[in-house]
Amino acid sequence: MMNPKTTRAHWSGRIAFVLAATGSAIGLGNIWKFPYMAGTNGGGAFVLIYLICVLAVGLPILVAELYIGQKSQKDAVEAFEVTHRKGTPWRGIGFMGIFAAFLILSFYSVVGGWVLDFEVRSILGEFHSKSDQEIEGYLSSLFRDPIRQSLFHLLFMFGTVSIVIGGIQNGIERWNRILMPSLFILLGLLLIRGFFLEGFGEALSFLFSPNWDLVTPKVLLEGVGQAFFSLSIGLGVMITYGSYLNKNENLIKTAVSVALMDTLIALLAGIVVFSVVFTYQLEPAKGPTLIFQTLPVLFSKMTGGYIVAIAFFLLIAFAALTSSISLLESVVTYLVDRHGIGRKKASLFTGLAAYILGIFSVLSFNVLADFKLFSKFTVFDFLEKITSTFFLPFGGMSIALYLGWILGPKAIQSILGHKKETQLPALGLLWTMRVIAPIAVAILLIQGIQSW
Ligand code: TRP
Repeated sequence: MMNPKTTRAHWSGRIAFVLAATGSAIGLGNIWKFPYMAGTNGGGAFVLIYLICVLAVGLPILVAELYIGQKSQKDAVEAFEVTHRKGTPWRGIGFMGIFAAFLILSFYSVVGGWVLDFEVRSILGEFHSKSDQEIEGYLSSLFRDPIRQSLFHLLFMFGTVSIVIGGIQNGIERWNRILMPSLFILLGLLLIRGFFLEGFGEALSFLFSPNWDLVTPKVLLEGVGQAFFSLSIGLGVMITYGSYLNKNENLIKTAVSVALMDTLIALLAGIVVFSVVFTYQLEPAKGPTLIFQTLPVLFSKMTGGYIVAIAFFLLIAFAALTSSISLLESVVTYLVDRHGIGRKKASLFTGLAAYILGIFSVLSFNVLADFKLFSKFTVFDFLEKITSTFFLPFGGMSIALYLGWILGPKAIQSILGHKKETQLPALGLLWTMRVIAPIAVAILLIQGIQSW
């Protein structure tokens, strides 16, 4: 007999889910953002703050999101209604998250487009026998060219939409199975190459020896924001992925594997990037253009640089794609579950809308460059800043409070199992959700927002 519950699509198994969730977590956040944030925030100290945030705050929230999704088997808005009650005000967190996921998708795809452009350039050998200025100038010439940028942005969004249209098993799962292992292989090769560069040792000491003088409230908030962004938490994206998980899957193990892999990849990407930077004595605090301006110059000088460049940008493109599909999927799941819209229509519509919004980010590098929000941020900067230093921490804090106070000890017990030896960890997890995580995030949010 057909049970209506079994009609919801599900991941084919634990590995498939871990791959998909890891695919969501590992993205531009790890390979583009993490190295430049570590670079501009003083290296080791930032890395340590980031690691503490992942462990103490990120991991519990990841577990909370997966639990809410798995338990409810619903999109990020209805998940709150199913686990609490119809019309609960907590569903506002879900709405906010879906909205923010849409905002991120819009500019994420723009950066994904830059990556594709650089992949094409590496294949065409444009980082070869060119002057340093010329190579460094590629990014600014791309910025000056809204048409070229919009085309690559379109290509990236097209890829994202096509995968999501395929659904859970035939789209997202299938592509993650191909893209994630390729990503690991490419990163492995780059690491081996990096190991033979002179700057390898210096990269390690830059990333792993903290300088506490550089730690300001702003660095702390950016550390939490980065931990949340990198783990894909705070917006209900993991609620969405969890909602396609079978009810008997162990969440703690799953969440730990996702967080471990995500952190490992961020650190390894950091090592690769800084090995190159230090070998050629470049500025580690270069900022968001680090991988697009600094690295290509170096690829042009190093042995095997042609292949390394191709591998490097391919790696980032894969990582970005497996993340953007999760952002789109959370909006699509909502439209499908809540409003009964077909998957194909929902994906196309959302993709198109995010594409159009993304055009404003494209224009903020040229035509709209002087248009500043709060007399400070271009559209692109504003979206990037407000999502990772407001929406993500605020959403994550609310989800922790929801699990701790509304769902309470019963939820914790069902996550950890009802055994005697889990009583102490259960108490720890409960109060982390109720007090520790929310207060930590709240303090950082308040202090950090003042430094905007
Ligand atoms: N985690 C991804 C990255 O590191 C970005 C991402 C995907 C994301 N889904 C998310 C960020 C949901 C926040 C919420 O690039």
